[in-house]
Amino acid sequence: MATISVNGMKRDVQASTDTPLLYVLRNELELSGPQFGCGLAQCGACSVLLDGKEIRSCTTTLAAVGNKEVTTLEGLSARWAQQKGLPAADLHPVQQAWIEEQVPLCGFCQNGMMIKATELLEQNASPSVAEIKDAFTKSGPSAHLCRCGSYTAIIAAVQFAAMQTGKGGAR
Ligand code: FES
Ligand code: FES
Repeated sequence: MATISVNGMKRDVQASTDTPLLYVLRNELELSGPQFGCGLAQCGACSVLLDGKEIRSCTTTLAAVGNKEVTTLEGLSARWAQQKGLPAADLHPVQQAWIEEQVPLCGFCQNGMMIKATELLEQNASPSVAEIKDAFTKSGPSAHLCRCGSYTAIIAAVQFAAMQTGKGGAR
């Protein structure tokens, strides 16, 4: 049993501390944004933010989370609202950009893609195409994989989101 902070709330969970965070999020907390792809930190489908850094929740144990703040896809809009001092936001600009650019094909990988995009834009408000490519391929334990080949649309969506965040963002 442990208490973790997820999307701004303290949550008591029953799983043992060596349980992968992904299982806790999906099975106990019913947060189905993070997906089980490889289970080996090799695809990025399970990604979440841990104190703002993208991590692979399939290989991160509950013990490793400790007191750090977990943000899942479901928490991105509230994260954005808090950062901007807004009472609430329907969507994070990254999520809005994914809709505008019609990024998902099957959609399975897109949780991790939006988490990675959020991390990138929090660190670099106006990334170049090369910086976007590097973020998705070199900045984590492995590249973020999309079996459907949505990579071009992802780059366009990150650029769209950068424009939105730069001018205050979607509400
Ligand atoms: S499921 Fe975690 S990186 Fe693939
Ligand atoms: S949209 Fe299908 S795996 Fe990426």
